[in-house]
Amino acid sequence: MIEANGVNKHFGSNHVLRDCTISVDTGEVVTLLGASGCGKTTLLRCIAGFETPDSGSLVLANQDVTRLPPNRRDVGFVFQNYALFPHMTVAENVAYGLKARKTAKETIRAEVDKVLDLVSLTEFARRYPKSLSGGQQQRVALARSLVLHPKVLLMDEAFNALDAKLRGAMQIELRKIVKHVGITAVCVTHDQAEALTISDRIAVMAEGRIQQFAAPDQIYDKPASAFVADFVGAANILPRKSAERFKTAHKSLNGSGALVIRPENFALSPSSQGGGVKGEVVFARLTGPAMEYEIALADGTILRALVDRDRQEPLAVGSTVEITIRNPDACVPLPGTA
Ligand SMILES: Nc1ncnc2c1ncn2[C@@H]1O[C@H](COP(=O)(O)OP(=O)(O)O)[C@@H](O)[C@H]1O
Ligand SMILES: [Mg+2]
Repeated sequence: MIEANGVNKHFGSNHVLRDCTISVDTGEVVTLLGASGCGKTTLLRCIAGFETPDSGSLVLANQDVTRLPPNRRDVGFVFQNYALFPHMTVAENVAYGLKARKTAKETIRAEVDKVLDLVSLTEFARRYPKSLSGGQQQRVALARSLVLHPKVLLMDEAFNALDAKLRGAMQIELRKIVKHVGITAVCVTHDQAEALTISDRIAVMAEGRIQQFAAPDQIYDKPASAFVADFVGAANILPRKSAERFKTAHKSLNGSGALVIRPENFALSPSSQGGGVKGEVVFARLTGPAMEYEIALADGTILRALVDRDRQEPLAVGSTVEITIRNPDACVPLPGTA
């Protein structure tokens, strides 16, 4: 449904997009994930038609749209600040685009009813935006795009204005709604948890380049680089020489390339009798179902470890532990590193 092929974009001498290539299947939700300034919004705006690439092409539904203006691309765009009309009711806001298209009144009413039901706002139809919560306003903005049945829905940091709890709830709701409608969507976020929640595939970006484009479990389990490993989830990245010293149940960690070891892959044994790698607990905190620790090794390396509370009693700060690797197969080598 969407193809960006080798897209490059400069702003003056700033090379903002570097050979960006992604393809999005029909009905798929893809997220552009990366730190502020890495080029996510610019790539999204290229897809929408608000920016034109310097080189490369954009294809929507098998049509080359690289030179087409936004209004001829059939995309819906949901912005961070909602941009609702304050003097119009929720229903009028949602109806606006259909009215502009001179759609018949009865059709407008039916379509608006349907989409308000979809986003659970039926009872708010006659209210004005300022009397709604942030989450409700966000759903109006979503409804206003969806009512036009665009081929593609684009969302740029749509949940930034929401507080953490509501934000998490809206992510789940968005995922359910877009999957229910079956629309193809590209979302932009700097929040890795949000990307994991809403996406079929994630394009991790840094400095204008796509670092890895894969399903959430692939990104987490098989990160393509130290950057991706560190950006999505927490990661210990150890030189091979240090990693080889850890004991494992059934397999050595010998090989080449630094290893990515997720915090949940460490086991911490309170006994200091064994011959394995030892460390000191220097920080402990409860995350809810698990305890998170920082463990200082003799050479000063700090490891992050995450231990389910039903696996082990909490360890005290200051105690010495022996560290082993639970599943060596889950450690990911990074080619081209030591
Ligand atoms: N219209 C513009 N003119 C000049 N520079 C821009 C413009 N839009 C974005 N940039 C620059 O391009 C880079 C990428 O910006 P952006 O795509 O907004 O990143 P992100 O959305 O990942 O935070 C930044 O360095 C930003 O300052
Ligand atoms: Mg942005």
